[in-house]
Amino acid sequence: MELATTLTSQTVQNAVREVGINPNYWYPVGWANQLKSGQVIPVTIWQQAIAVYRDTNGQVHALEDACPHKGVALHKGEVQGCNLTCAYHGWEFNGKGECVNVPYLPPEQKLPRAQARTYPVQEKYNLIWVFPGDPALATSQQPPLMAEYDQAHWLMVPVTARFRAHFSMCNENTMDVFHGFLHKKLQGWFDPVLLSLKETESSVCAEYNVSYKGRMAKFLGLSDRASQVTTLPISIHYRYPHYYSSLQGISSLYLMRLPVGLTQSRSFAYFFFRVRLPQWILKPLQPLLQTLLQRFMLLRFLAQDIEMVESEQQTYLTNPQRRYVEINPAIIAVQRLIVRQYEQFMQQSSHLQNKRQTNSNVSDAMSPTLTSDHTEATKENSLIG
Ligand code: FES
Ligand SMILES: [Fe+2]
Repeated sequence: MELATTLTSQTVQNAVREVGINPNYWYPVGWANQLKSGQVIPVTIWQQAIAVYRDTNGQVHALEDACPHKGVALHKGEVQGCNLTCAYHGWEFNGKGECVNVPYLPPEQKLPRAQARTYPVQEKYNLIWVFPGDPALATSQQPPLMAEYDQAHWLMVPVTARFRAHFSMCNENTMDVFHGFLHKKLQGWFDPVLLSLKETESSVCAEYNVSYKGRMAKFLGLSDRASQVTTLPISIHYRYPHYYSSLQGISSLYLMRLPVGLTQSRSFAYFFFRVRLPQWILKPLQPLLQTLLQRFMLLRFLAQDIEMVESEQQTYLTNPQRRYVEINPAIIAVQRLIVRQYEQFMQQSSHLQNKRQTNSNVSDAMSPTLTSDHTEATKENSLIG
């Protein structure tokens, strides 16, 4: 649906600062090459603590970060072969979350029925992706497609960030080209104009015109001379829950959001720059260029953004009833999408719960004594006993 691009005053819905995520998408939790074989790390996707480990065969697994025995965080344990062993009593769990060993249990005794929740996990673009929602839906979604990844003519720069802020504030910052004002000393962009705005069930796409000038613009091939002003269209796509933005074949950004909790978010981003250098020069220079771009450009921009977004969060917390005013319809559309995705998920899950409830009522009614599950459990108990 095409939306108006007029900048008009609207009140920000406070609900967007408190909503949860739609977990039925893939979320990035770490750089794949930083998780070595035999290592385990704790990660959090919207208040769900998850232990991610790489077994000694190189396979990555994701288990709920709570031992089914007493709840101790499994990431405190260690990887043994294909399994994760809890630090407390040494119970061992395989990649399917099944308890496969209790070190002090007599060999003739049956293992307890202890199952850790598992999450679908995959590696793509040197990122580890976890699907925190309904595992049955994991194959219906995919991490975003990155056409520039591993393409020799693009210089790729990965950047990670942590924000002490709700993910809605971080996402608005990425969609909001009108904050070039903040980056003026870093020779960012200026004179933004919102050209078009489209919204679908799961995305918002905004096209802006922005102007560039200065040494940075020259280095990135935006202009031939530092004093020259160049105006270009930039498109920003928020495809829930991640971002893609492109500056006319000159640079692209894939920003993957990891909402951690009410006031904590992370991002894993890839910047791609089309550097006008021959391949034989670009290849050996790549690590140096990556470091320079990270340190002298991207991290500086990011530090300014983080300061603003965290300040926004702090003020919000002091008085959540206070009303704020927005005039960029792209931001209002992003807020609407975030709230809508969360509501859709809540509706789906309550629908599913009702369905389960109805099914279990029906099976109870059909079996006035014991359901087959109960029968199985009783058989099992008598075997253990
Ligand atoms: S709490 Fe994990 S083995 Fe006891
Ligand atoms: Fe910024």
